[in-house]
Amino acid sequence: MDLFKISKEMITGVEIIDKEHQEIAGKINLLFSHPKGTLSKAFIKAAIKDIHDMLEKHFQTEEQIFLKLGILENSVASLEHDSILKSLDNFIGDVEKNYCVSDEFKAFVVGTLITHMAMEAKDIKNASI
Ligand SMILES: [Fe+2]
Ligand SMILES: [Fe+2]
Repeated sequence: MDLFKISKEMITGVEIIDKEHQEIAGKINLLFSHPKGTLSKAFIKAAIKDIHDMLEKHFQTEEQIFLKLGILENSVASLEHDSILKSLDNFIGDVEKNYCVSDEFKAFVVGTLITHMAMEAKDIKNASI
């Protein structure tokens, strides 16, 4: 079962954002599709780095769209971007110590990233009305 499911309330209606959200979710689901303890440290680090880089590019796209919609300064979602990237940097460091995809990373995906996408979908829909 996929860890990261894009629910209806997470659909923003902006094609490029929704497409990238699907790609990010797919990459995360692929990482968690492997049984715990079966992946090498290098593989996990590279996968989280890929997710970091996808998100970094995605946030740039998103912030340009937020700017056009007039919500860049007051959207909590846009303020969260830097802290999400910092958390991913920390997880890459954690892999070095723990050698497996940590439960904290799983909690981060389910808690922070999914909530983030739902919140920005709300912001975008409110701005588009
Ligand atoms: Fe975002
Ligand atoms: Fe996003």
